[in-house]
This record gives sequence, C-alpha cells and structure tokens, in this order.
Amino acid sequence: MSQEIALNAFTMNALSHLSPGTWRHPRDEGKRYVDIDYWMDVAVTLERGLIDVVFFADVLGVYDVFGDSPDAAIRNGVQFPLNDPYSVIPAMAAVTENLGFAMTAAVSYEHPYPFARRMSSLDHVTKGRLGWNVVTGYLKSGAVNFGVSDQEAHDRRYDIAEEYLEVCYKLWEKSWDEDARSADVSSGVFADPTKIHPIDHHGEFFRVPGIHLAEPSPQRTPVIYQAGASSRGVEFAARHAEGIFVAAQSKVALATQISALRSAIEAAGRPANEIKIVNQQTVIVAETDAEAHKLFEEYLENASSEGALTLMSGWTGIDFSRLGLDTTFRDQEGNAIQSVIKAFSSADPTREWTIREIAEHVRIGGDGPVFVGSPQTVADQLETWVDETGVDGFNLAAAVVPEAWTQIVDLLVPEMQKRGRYKTNYATGTLREKLGGDARIAPTHPASQVTL
Ligand SMILES: Cc1cc2nc3c(=O)[nH]c(=O)nc-3n(C[C@H](O)[C@H](O)[C@H](O)COP(=O)(O)O)c2cc1C
Repeated sequence: MSQEIALNAFTMNALSHLSPGTWRHPRDEGKRYVDIDYWMDVAVTLERGLIDVVFFADVLGVYDVFGDSPDAAIRNGVQFPLNDPYSVIPAMAAVTENLGFAMTAAVSYEHPYPFARRMSSLDHVTKGRLGWNVVTGYLKSGAVNFGVSDQEAHDRRYDIAEEYLEVCYKLWEKSWDEDARSADVSSGVFADPTKIHPIDHHGEFFRVPGIHLAEPSPQRTPVIYQAGASSRGVEFAARHAEGIFVAAQSKVALATQISALRSAIEAAGRPANEIKIVNQQTVIVAETDAEAHKLFEEYLENASSEGALTLMSGWTGIDFSRLGLDTTFRDQEGNAIQSVIKAFSSADPTREWTIREIAEHVRIGGDGPVFVGSPQTVADQLETWVDETGVDGFNLAAAVVPEAWTQIVDLLVPEMQKRGRYKTNYATGTLREKLGGDARIAPTHPASQVTL
C-alpha cells in the first residue's frame, strides 16, 4: 500500500502568517488571534481532521528590511502584531487529546536555562505532545533589542545553536535520573538528591552549573524540528532534527533537497528514513475546481504584493524595494535565510523569477507552492509530490482563516482517507510515538549521547 501522507497545520500567533493582506478578506478571522477561544476552536477543528501537528512559526523582530523601515510591515500587518506561541498552546491542549504542538523558538535570544524549563513545562501540560522548531533567527531588528549591534554571522548562529542544544539536552536528559522522584509519603522524601545532578556546563557561549528545575516530562526532550537548508543548516538538521521542514517551490527542487538531506542524515549516523520531512504548502480547496479558483481569485484581491516583498526582504536580508520589478532575482550571499534566496534562484535551474513574479507568488502562501482545486485535484497533486520526491508530507499554510482549516479537514482529509493516503485514527502515546518513535528520544540521537 502507498505511504500515508503527514499533514501539519502551519500557522503563527499573529494577524496573518504567509499570506499578507488577506486579513482584509470579509471572512478572515485572523484578527481574533488575541482571543483564546479562537485558538481553542482551531485546535478542535484540526483534531477533527486528525492533523498531526499545529506548527507555530515565530520571529522576535519586525520585518524592517524592506525600504529600511518597519512601516510596510506595520501598515500591511506582515507577521505583525505578533504574540508568543507559548501563550496559546496550553489552552489548545486542554481541548484536544491527540493534536501535536510544534513551537518555533530561536536559540539566539533567550538563555537555554529558562527556555529548557518552559519546554519541560509545556511537555507536561500537553501530556507529551510538544515539538520544538529550533531556529537561529534571521531578523537584525530582533537581535538589536537584546543589546547587540547586529545578529551573529549566519554560520556562527549555528555554532551557538549546537551549544544551546547541548545545554538543553543535559538539562532534559541527564539532570534527573529516571527514579529520582519517589514521592514517598511514608518516608517524607519527595525526590532523592543523589539522583538529581548539576549539569556543570561550561562552554564557549553558556555557563549552566545547576540542576534542571522541572522534573522529567513525558518526552523529556520535545520532538526536535529544524528548517535550516543552507549547507551549515543541513548539517545541523542531519544531526539533531527528528522532523525537517523545507519550502521548495517545485518537485525538482524538493527532490534535490530531500536527497541531500537524507544523505546528510545517513552521514551523521542516523536512520535517514525515520526523519520525517515535510514541505511548506498552501492549499485552497472547494467542492469543485471552479469554486476553488473563484476562492483563490477572492483571496488574491485582498493579498498584498508590498506585504509579500516585505516578507521576502526580511527572509533574505535583501531590500526588495530597491530592485526593479522586472529584473531577474539572482543567487547571492545574505545574512538571513540562505535557503529562501536559493529557492528563487539556483534551486530549480529550469525556473527564473522576476521580482514581480516573486511578489505575485509570495502574497499567497509565502515562499511555498500553492495548490488550488477540488479535493480530488489537490489530493492528486499532493500524492504526486510525495511519490515523485520522497517527501513525507506537508506543513499546510492557510490563506484565509479559519476557512482554510475547515477546507482541509472537511474536504481534503476525507478524500485522502478514501485513497488510503491518510490515517483514520491517531496513534496512541506522546507526539514522538504518534510519529513512529518511542516516547523518549532515540539512542542514536545526540540528546541521548550527551554526557555530564
Ligand atoms: C520553511 C522554513 C520555515 C522557517 N520558519 C522560521 C520561523 O518561523 N522562525 C524563524 O526564526 N526562522 C524560520 N526559518 C528559518 C530557519 O529555521 C533557519 O534559522 C534559517 O533558515 C537560517 O538557516 P539556513 O540559512 O540554513 O536556511 C524557517 C526556514 C524555512 C526554510
């Protein structure tokens, strides 16, 4: 039987995520992102569709590279205003039993000691349904608020990330022995001090001598996701990621990226086929192709090209307001997300992009591809991408919310189930178990191998 396809919902605790301007659409409820009831409803809808994980993107800065100013981001509501994803996950977990939660958090700003405790706390309250998307940050506008003049250079950010993870792994995996907590009322001993160890970490970037304040959560280490795609990013993902997500525009680019990732995972001594790779993907689904295309036209009427170039400028570190709309975008160095530059230049040698084409493409679905059609049409496309590229599934981004989620859950999922390409029940256990592993991270993973 053909492989089941993994589906995540890709979102952000913001007015809009990857389709700038669509908040103006009369049915869009993105403006309710400040309302916890909104997020609880989203969680219930996604679980009804057996969606694997709700994946929260996050950044800690404003998109101010376009025109060297935050004005376009503020005017168009481009990933702004933006709340902390941490704030909505517990409420979403309380109204669901199986939906996973992946939270993006950068290693560049917050110290690993409090961060590791926040992750343990979330893994406890979600009953082991937490994932962490490890990012290195790309916005200077975020970095400067931490008292530095600029963000660290691209590859140096990954050096920091390596050590950051080492500190977290020590706290999560090694500070508490499995039997440290006895909670023995008769002896009056809650936990055995000889079984809780200071991690005594003294590295280049961090010094953490003490013990982990949180007791071990169901997964200890949350499921580790990573989205770096530069050569340094691939090396990092190959070592640490249990799930990788990419944003390829075409099957050619995706297939190339996937074979490079799988080879790098093997070279890192880890089982390449057990690491799930998902591609960013926007789908617009209606009962018929014609209705779906009508919806797409409606969404486009509300989408913002300026907002799209504001996103691209932030992602690449290149000010798109200075580039002529009819010039071709070329591969170049940047100190932000190198893979986004490549995606619109060298990733697919058969495709050249002008700035205008990039603006038109990115305004719905950002830097990922968009499929529009009936459930049959979109399922055909998803299946073809999986079968021809070796991708495991998709991080589905929404254009207009929450109707994107109901289109997916009520139309697309049943069609994929009919074809035997989507599960009909959640697996039991923690998120890591639902994704095919054990509750605790694999022995081949560096988190298991870290020593004190
Ligand atoms: C599909 C995709 C989604 C990403 N989402 C985020 C995000 O939400 N927040 C963030 O700070 N970085 C995000 N990133 C950035 C990466 O995680 C990484 O830090 C960045 O790509 C720099 O690494 P690279 O040059 O190796 O790609 C994303 C990257 C990709 C490719």
